[in-house]
Amino acid sequence: MSTYTARFRVWRGDAGGGDLADYDVEVNDGEVVLDIIHRLQATQANDLAVRWNCKAGKCGSCSAEINGRPRLMCMTRMSVFDRGETVTVTPLRAFPVVRDLVTDVSFNYAKAREIPSFVPPEGVAAGEYRMAQVDVERSQEFRKCIECFLCQDTCHVVRDHEENKGAFAGPRFLMRVAELDMHPLDAAAAGGGPTRAESAQDDHGLGYCNITKCCTEVCPEHIHITDNALIPLKERAVDRKYDPLVWLGSKIRRRGQ
Ligand code: SF4
Ligand code: SF4
Ligand code: FES
Repeated sequence: MSTYTARFRVWRGDAGGGDLADYDVEVNDGEVVLDIIHRLQATQANDLAVRWNCKAGKCGSCSAEINGRPRLMCMTRMSVFDRGETVTVTPLRAFPVVRDLVTDVSFNYAKAREIPSFVPPEGVAAGEYRMAQVDVERSQEFRKCIECFLCQDTCHVVRDHEENKGAFAGPRFLMRVAELDMHPLDAAAAGGGPTRAESAQDDHGLGYCNITKCCTEVCPEHIHITDNALIPLKERAVDRKYDPLVWLGSKIRRRGQ
């Protein structure tokens, strides 16, 4: 087994401010960035704050920026870096720092609460719902989300624009709207109300997304957020808005209520 010493540069500080601190830390074969951060914490910086849980890429809590790229620390192998390269670890930039590598991600929970949940169809009892396998499979991809919020962090709409946070749900939650929009039993628009695609546009800021695909690039679950969720949602929002028959039908339905 080979061992070497890596130069780590880690952001230390809190909401009041902070700076990068340099450390030389031992690295062994097969280790990931989170192993090195734990060794650093155990040997040189006992008060270093870091959030983690599963160390298996499944809990979504060890999100950070490594050499400027949003990544899971537990899934980033040290072998992807040159041995002489400095590895810089900083907290997620889009969210307020609590301390060191820990950020306050409550923005995301607030956005999750803004999306109305599945509306069951009338006249069908629980246990009697039936879906075609093709519909089940379509949304299955979105269910792989581990809520690491790397996509939310990387999206340029909020990354450097605090002022957009009020109006924009972010890719993770627009994907949630897309999933509901694709659900054949969701009755949110029954009775002439807005469709999920319309509310994505009007209430959750879908129009801010210019399909740059940066969210897709950082997703550790390799979910095709842009191609399979955001673009289809945009297409349906536009179809509905600009199809004169759909528009007329929705007006008549609303008047008839
Ligand atoms: S594709 Fe849309 S949601 Fe994803 S990062 Fe780009 S602007 Fe943000
Ligand atoms: S969609 Fe991917 S990047 Fe975004 S929160 Fe879920 S797992 Fe993380
Ligand atoms: S510790 Fe759970 S995803 Fe990294």
